[in-house]
Amino acid sequence: MSLPGNYLFSEIGKKVNVFSLQHPDAELIRMGIGDVTRPLVKAVIEAMHQAVFEMSVAETFRGYGPEQGYRFLIEKIIEKDFKSRGVNIQPEEVFVSDGCKSDMGNIGGLFAKENVVAVTDPVYPVYVDSNVMDGRGGDISVLGMWKNIVYLPCTKENGFIPALPEKPVDIIYLCFPNNPTGTTLTRPELKKWVDYALETGALILFDAAYEAFIAEKEVPHSIYEMEGAENCAIEFRSFSKTAGFTGIRCGYTVVPEKVAARTGSNKKVFLNALWNRRQTTKFNGVSYITQRAAEAVYSDEGMRQCKENIAYYMKNAAIIRDGLKQIGLEAFGGINAPYIWFKTPENMGSWTFFDRMLREIHVIGTPGVGFGPSGEGCLRLTAFGSREDTITAMERFQSWNV
Ligand code: MLT
Repeated sequence: MSLPGNYLFSEIGKKVNVFSLQHPDAELIRMGIGDVTRPLVKAVIEAMHQAVFEMSVAETFRGYGPEQGYRFLIEKIIEKDFKSRGVNIQPEEVFVSDGCKSDMGNIGGLFAKENVVAVTDPVYPVYVDSNVMDGRGGDISVLGMWKNIVYLPCTKENGFIPALPEKPVDIIYLCFPNNPTGTTLTRPELKKWVDYALETGALILFDAAYEAFIAEKEVPHSIYEMEGAENCAIEFRSFSKTAGFTGIRCGYTVVPEKVAARTGSNKKVFLNALWNRRQTTKFNGVSYITQRAAEAVYSDEGMRQCKENIAYYMKNAAIIRDGLKQIGLEAFGGINAPYIWFKTPENMGSWTFFDRMLREIHVIGTPGVGFGPSGEGCLRLTAFGSREDTITAMERFQSWNV
């Protein structure tokens, strides 16, 4: 295994730190990692204070909680995220966790080493890196592609809509709204994937971490809105971006009872009991205080306040998209997702453009090629900064003679 020494965002962090040490006066604007900047909303803070108080009194103190999550949160998740969209999920199918990244990384532990994995390209690096760590990558090519992983290009040329795999695969990672491109699939496009998985026996791992940013009606919020998905898909959700929990840590994963994966000897194994076994063995649950905070996200006030923050970020997204277009760059995403994906001028390499942005206008982005070979010649900017920084960054782009 020759996994690159650093995780993408750690690599960027290191480069930025070196630059900062050499240029202590540079006023850096961070639009690289998708980390939120708005504080937690009032409803969440109040719920946390209340939970802390409960922990201070013997009668309401809590020790270990259920590894799968408290019922009060699971019931809210089912009601607000699924029932409201006509989807039936059972409480035993929901597993509360410390976030989507951990679950997406850990789920690979359930699968056979022989399983063939397909990813869209560019892709959130966790899917690829964790499969390589689990031994499903094979050798790496000069282009940085793992020989045993099937890459499904998502580029401007195909409208960022991945084509179905040409060879049989066992596990398919889909993330929509997409990180990093900020683009989406419509219902018929996602249905095609569900039908494909049902037909071939493949398993879909659907990352819906950016669902709360969807603005357009034709974009599905959950894969379970597609008929039959409860037989072939696991869905991952996160409070990180929805409610600003990147530092608090909470998410959840839906593993329907009927979903199975192929074993090395081509049998099928049901995943709900297996994931439950994994979680109860290796995970002790999310803190009570955090789960009360997550529950508050679903209150009327909590939802309203979180939506305000999302609207704030999406205004930033519009400023970035428009700003890039004004200077003649081709920009995508930013309508149903907080990421803007753009092509560098004259096909400049992603890392070259990243370095120039850092050195010449002190703006930090994420090089597209860091998300996979099809990302070469592109960069990603996030809309999670402050309004002031977002506007300043776009002003710097505009007066930059790139
Ligand atoms: C990103 O920038 O892609 C995300 O913030 C990473 C994450 O959610 O782990």
